[in-house]
Amino acid sequence: MKSVVIQQPNQLVIEERPRPEPGAGEVRVKITLAGICGSDSHIYRGHNPFAKYPRTIGHEFFGVIDATGEGVDAARLGQRVAVDPVISCGHCYPCSVGKPNVCTSLVVLGVHRDGGFSEYAAVPAQNAWAIPDDIPDRHAVMVEPFTIAANVTGQAKPTEQDVALIYGAGPMGLVTVQALKGVYQVKQVIVVDRIDERLAMARRSGADWVFNNGEQSLQAALEEKGIKPTLIIDAACHPSILQEAITLASPAARIVLMGFSSEPSQIVQQGITGKELAIFSSRLNANKFPVVIDWLKRGLIDPEKLITHTFDYHHVTDAIELFEKDQQQCCKVLLTFGQ
Ligand code: NAI
Repeated sequence: MKSVVIQQPNQLVIEERPRPEPGAGEVRVKITLAGICGSDSHIYRGHNPFAKYPRTIGHEFFGVIDATGEGVDAARLGQRVAVDPVISCGHCYPCSVGKPNVCTSLVVLGVHRDGGFSEYAAVPAQNAWAIPDDIPDRHAVMVEPFTIAANVTGQAKPTEQDVALIYGAGPMGLVTVQALKGVYQVKQVIVVDRIDERLAMARRSGADWVFNNGEQSLQAALEEKGIKPTLIIDAACHPSILQEAITLASPAARIVLMGFSSEPSQIVQQGITGKELAIFSSRLNANKFPVVIDWLKRGLIDPEKLITHTFDYHHVTDAIELFEKDQQQCCKVLLTFGQ
């Protein structure tokens, strides 16, 4: 089989590898579609501290089960599946409290173990989630990015009364907009970014108001309108955003962080305690595949609004370069395998 392998930072090859045999408790997935995420590009460029090389990247992928390992029901052969990249031990403290996404021996497919930019992958059977027939392949491959939003909302518990502010209109900001509007009917969702084209995408995903904070002061604009956000989600992830969010937030607001910056954020306790703010963080997803599959089944979210490009995997380098360089036009870029 062919796999997209990062041999060393900045060295991507399409390599011939033996087709994996599923071990006990595993299934083999014949992959048809995969999505490119910023972290694939970070591993490619050598900017992901968790990555070990060589590595087959890709943690958003969809395909059909074509072999089952020992102990797995052979009736699953032929099943269309989206794969949860989070592999956890099931018995450490975080696993015991429902957070396998921060398992003490966390393994993420495509990061710590070979992932889905490949013609086949062997994965734990329980990570391969069956996709109902009425959900098209292109939407099924988008389950993983939407699980990030499901995890964020699982922490922050949005209500219809919320006034939400989302920093960043990249793929992560946009999945979050769709979840807040489509699933939780949040009455006002504001999105800020520095790129007008991305703000236009946020509008298409349901944002009520968008604002370019590269040109003007967000604080001044919110004060002028008398808006105090009750829920703030940082999907832009610059360390300076936390203090701004604390300043802008309504008393009793929730703030959710999604970033992995190693740079310090300077924050003032008084700003947090004075308003009794709750600050959450959200990493990957904790058992959110069935949640998002249900959202898709009920038509509450529309992945089509995020998919801007599709490439055959032979052109993966062009696809990643476009994804990195053209933030104006690009949102979700898909790779097709074996089509
Ligand atoms: P992206 O880079 O495509 O989008 C980020 C957007 O934020 C860009 O449109 C950029 O113009 C905008 N931005 C940057 N600084 C800003 C600022 N100060 N104010 C307003 N907008 C600003 O990235 P993507 O894929 O949407 O991911 C966003 C972040 O989420 C990344 O930092 C990524 O590492 C993180 N992430 C976290 C996950 C988690 O589970 N916690 C999962 C996936 C991504």
